[in-house]
Amino acid sequence: MNKELKILGIVVIFTLILYWGVEPFAHSQMHKHVEGHGLIYDGKADIEEASKDKKEVKKKFWADVKKIASLKGDVASGETIFNSTCASCHMKGASNMGGVTPPSLDHAGAIYDKNFLIALIKNPAMATNVDHKYKDTATHPMGAVMSMVSSDQDIANVVAYIKAKKAGEVTPKEAFIEACSRCHANRYGKLTQLGEIPKTKSNIKTGQDIDKMKYDQKVAEEQNALADYLGKLPPDLSIIYRARSEHFLETFIENPQSQLPGTAMPRTGLDKEGLEKVMAYLEETGDPSKPARDALGPWVLAFFVIFTILAYLWKQSQWRDLH
Ligand code: HEC
Ligand code: HEC
Repeated sequence: MNKELKILGIVVIFTLILYWGVEPFAHSQMHKHVEGHGLIYDGKADIEEASKDKKEVKKKFWADVKKIASLKGDVASGETIFNSTCASCHMKGASNMGGVTPPSLDHAGAIYDKNFLIALIKNPAMATNVDHKYKDTATHPMGAVMSMVSSDQDIANVVAYIKAKKAGEVTPKEAFIEACSRCHANRYGKLTQLGEIPKTKSNIKTGQDIDKMKYDQKVAEEQNALADYLGKLPPDLSIIYRARSEHFLETFIENPQSQLPGTAMPRTGLDKEGLEKVMAYLEETGDPSKPARDALGPWVLAFFVIFTILAYLWKQSQWRDLH
């Protein structure tokens, strides 16, 4: 008896060592731990991680951003600048330019951080932390904006306008479409890089759906252009919510370089609301049965309570005569 207890003890101890010691250790070695920055876009991490020759440039860039952020923007003149510059690329039905299609900015004020927007207009490649890809950052697909809106006050005005025009509540899907889907499809959400997949019909006589074929071709062309621009086609994000931890996703979206140094994915500059909405959409498509599961929970608990009461009553009635 004593011997068996000892063996059991040894087995338990080794199991616990394996469970708490080895597995988490291996995990921490395989995935480096990345701290988030609380969605504050002040360039601190960029400056720290920059190579020696880039440090000064980045320091100056983010100091300028801070200076512009302290200016008071004028909403009305911001609107004029927005309509004459930003809207010329960011219009409805815009087509691919330089490898990527400019997204809708309908809810930009609600999903992007103010400092990030200032940095983005000042220098898109630097703001999105992909400047390592460019010899001349003006060749970024949005690089032309640097010469179109160049005075500090103009930048402050446009950002004041974008922030003032929040355009109401954003749904998780809208946030995902505006911030991510120009690059990432979401099959379960029925989204391609060109937006929502249109409904088409096949010809009854031939069984062929020519509209769908045309659409598929357009998507393929867009994906080829993206792959040329980014070096690879960005992955479909339908089930990424299950494949990666929430912490990984949040820190990766905040600064892709922190998890994958050298990656072509830009930092998207989401603020707290924007990130929450995008995460909600990833959860919705990655784990669509969660609401049903959650709704079932209280019923299962209720069943156990009722079952316990019935079992107790039944036991009472069985033993009543025996005592
Ligand atoms: C300009 C294009 C672009 C945009 C916009 C973009 N991404 Fe990406 N994303 C990429 C590319 C390219 C990769 C592949 C990275 C690599 O392998 O180097 C990627 C990879 C990822 C990954 C995979 C990480 C992994 O390896 O598991 C996730 C998650 C992701 N993106 C999330 C998002 C989310 C969420 C958004 C919107 C907030 C977004 N991305 C916006 C280009 C983009
Ligand atoms: C020359 C065309 C052009 C002009 C002008 C332009 N943009 Fe863009 N913009 C783009 C393109 C292309 C992208 C997508 C870049 C990418 O994904 O790499 C983009 C992306 C963006 C994004 C999304 C960034 C992110 O992090 O996901 C925002 C916000 C934005 N632009 C705001 C503006 C504002 C505000 C202006 C006016 C001050 C402006 N843009 C002017 C072409 C343009």
